[in-house]
Amino acid sequence: MNKKTILVTGGAGFIGSNFIHYVMKKYPEYEIVNLDKLTYAGNLENLKGVDDKQNYHFVKGDIGNRELVEYIFEKFSPIYVVNFAAESHVDRSIEGPEIFIKTNVYGTHVILDVAKEYWQKNDMFNSARFLQISTDEVYGSLPLESEEKFTEESPLKPNSPYSASKASADLLVRAYYVTYGMPVLITRSSNNFGPRQYPEKLTPLIITNALQGKPLPVYGDGLNVRDWLYVEDNCSAIDIVLHKGKIGEVYNIGGGNEWKNIDLVNLICEILGELTEKPVEEYKKLITFVKDRPGHDRRYALSIEKIKRELGWNPTEDFRDGMNKTVKWFFAKTKSYLYRE
Ligand SMILES: NC(=O)c1ccc[n+]([C@@H]2O[C@H](COP(=O)([O-])OP(=O)(O)OC[C@H]3O[C@@H](n4cnc5c(N)ncnc54)[C@H](O)[C@@H]3O)[C@@H](O)[C@H]2O)c1
Repeated sequence: MNKKTILVTGGAGFIGSNFIHYVMKKYPEYEIVNLDKLTYAGNLENLKGVDDKQNYHFVKGDIGNRELVEYIFEKFSPIYVVNFAAESHVDRSIEGPEIFIKTNVYGTHVILDVAKEYWQKNDMFNSARFLQISTDEVYGSLPLESEEKFTEESPLKPNSPYSASKASADLLVRAYYVTYGMPVLITRSSNNFGPRQYPEKLTPLIITNALQGKPLPVYGDGLNVRDWLYVEDNCSAIDIVLHKGKIGEVYNIGGGNEWKNIDLVNLICEILGELTEKPVEEYKKLITFVKDRPGHDRRYALSIEKIKRELGWNPTEDFRDGMNKTVKWFFAKTKSYLYRE
């Protein structure tokens, strides 16, 4: 019972796998159980380097499978749950919302409820923590011209089936705290970038398409603004919230780097130009403006004053350094992918 076991869900995906690498390095004494369904977005290659360690355990399965989740609790007795598992791509949620409701709402409910039952039965509420990984998208959109930022007190106004499913999960998690006194925490982060991301989201899509000479799709006028957070900074924030956060609270996590999509794409082209010694124009001429996504949120910006003030967390990665590392990582991967047998 005293051994610290973390159940990480969705640990074969982008942020979850980076978090597992982070935790295995920082807390080598912890046991890690990774429950992942291995959808198109999950990739066991993301766990290379940790998957052979004795304190790492992988279970393939769905967070919505109650029997399986109960079995995992009985077998491993996790004291922490970090729930990353989700369908995470807005465009896919517009095409087919149902799986988003199944995984993000129902799945979260199952894992939350099993954790509650298990921790209550074993009198673990005092030391256990359930950390729900959420998103700034639950707050909706801000106008481009405003200076406003979302705080943890901002109303939830999700605009896509994806963000609506994440907001629903947040409300369930909150209700378990209020109703049952369950030890929960929620983090809402801005757009992450970094290694190990499936190349359908903006950063890895642009890098991998550029390297293959394919069009670089930019929605609408390209002026939509996102606040970019290096994935390792998100991991350090999640770590601090898990260990020091106040039960029942929500913490925003942002990088303080607001970029227009088109400027970000140009920056990636410039980094690729330096890296491959091809003229930057070769990459920039691939930029193609495409029809805007329906209900496309214009601007997201997060106030991170609370986590700074209460937990002393700050993002540390310089934005350009982080983007350089990310481009280099995908460059190495894409080369091996392009030239494989
Ligand atoms: N990527 C971002 O910029 C970002 C920003 C804010 C919040 N988030 C949130 O962070 C979390 C992780 O995001 P990501 O970008 O790493 O996602 P991802 O799509 O890269 O990975 C999701 C992982 O969850 C797994 N999964 C999906 N459905 C499952 C199910 N039913 N049971 C078990 N596993 C399942 C997938 O196989 C995959 O490994 C999500 O909850 C997302 O909403 C992401």
